[in-house]
Amino acid sequence: MDHKTLAALAVGLAGVAGFTYPQEGKTTEQEYKHIESFKGIPAGELLPAMRFMSASLGVKCVFCHNTEDFPSEEKPQKQRARQMIAMQRQIDRAFFAGQGEVTCTSCHNGHTSPARRPSLTGLVLRHTMPTTEMPTDDVFSKFLKARGATLKSISLSGVSVHAGRPDSAYELLETETGKFALTAGLNRFVCDGSSVWRVGENGAEPAPGDSGDIVRRTVRLFLGASPFGAYEKPFVAGFEKIDGRDTVVVRGRIPADKVLEDLYFDKETGLLARVATQRETVLGSLPSFMDYGDYRLVDGMMTPFKIVVTSPDGEATTTNFATAKGNVEVPDAAFKPPH
Ligand code: HEC
Ligand code: HEC
Repeated sequence: MDHKTLAALAVGLAGVAGFTYPQEGKTTEQEYKHIESFKGIPAGELLPAMRFMSASLGVKCVFCHNTEDFPSEEKPQKQRARQMIAMQRQIDRAFFAGQGEVTCTSCHNGHTSPARRPSLTGLVLRHTMPTTEMPTDDVFSKFLKARGATLKSISLSGVSVHAGRPDSAYELLETETGKFALTAGLNRFVCDGSSVWRVGENGAEPAPGDSGDIVRRTVRLFLGASPFGAYEKPFVAGFEKIDGRDTVVVRGRIPADKVLEDLYFDKETGLLARVATQRETVLGSLPSFMDYGDYRLVDGMMTPFKIVVTSPDGEATTTNFATAKGNVEVPDAAFKPPH
């Protein structure tokens, strides 16, 4: 008997003694050099598992191996993969009765870095960093110049189109200090610059949860002399194309609102084309975005006449304005909840 046959026999006996995978032939640790995760598994199962990991992460063997020397431990990804194998087994045992429900693919889905947040069609949140440093002040001042006059207030009216629901009238009155009154279909909201109230048939109540915040964000027209003053440490995060047009993306955080926002400025015109918001939740960050277009002059200020709001569930509402007027005189009472 040669030593190979002996080894096979030994394994056969060991199988009887309680291996998880009873088998003929060698186990991985007998065939290969550095086996920790796959001990006790038939040697023939190692390469299929390698191909499964590669396909799940969308990589080649070289991502984890020096392909001249597979047993080598020189790549940290190999050790990381062992931790992931242990994690997969733990999750599966603890929560899915060991049915193999959770695998590398469940999280990785073809990427080395799993997605942390829900994705929204048409929205890119990982930008390619610009190679040369670009001051945000240049981007902001280009916007202010392109915008023209600074209006103290504006009043707009138009129609909102929602997918699968009837169109609704939309009327917005807004000041540079963040006060607004909005009527959208049957909903009415007022904001005195800080709190948002929903005004209903039976009077006004503070907008519940973060709904006031969402309304406040969706009506923002970035009026005033310093429309981006609330962003903490804004920086140019990259360049993206929207509808074939080049934009510069400025990223900034508004800690009080628990949001991280990407402001997309049209490279050519300097005007704001999109604001993408990531709202922190206790589970992870939730994206949504608003597109601004059809800019027209209103009393000297370039104003978007088309606003498309895409909510985290992917539903879009398009509002087109028909009339607009700048510097309207409004009594403060218009922004306070009625008694
Ligand atoms: C995501 C990382 C990862 C990828 C991708 C990967 N491997 Fe591995 N590979 C490992 C880990 C981890 C081990 C060690 C397994 C253990 O500890 O039981 C290993 C072990 C091996 C071994 C055994 C080496 C020895 O003698 O100890 C071979 C051979 C191997 N891989 C081949 C491949 C091939 C071929 C591919 C591409 C088809 C591949 N691997 C892709 C992580 C990876
Ligand atoms: C429960 C989710 C989850 C599962 C299941 C999972 N991973 Fe991961 N994996 C992650 C996360 C999260 C990271 C960290 C990514 C980052 O840093 O961006 C990660 C990172 C990695 C890395 C490091 C990537 C790098 O860029 O260096 C490797 C390698 C890896 N996983 C392999 C695997 C393999 C192989 C499996 C299946 C055996 C697996 N993972 C299963 C969530 C998971």
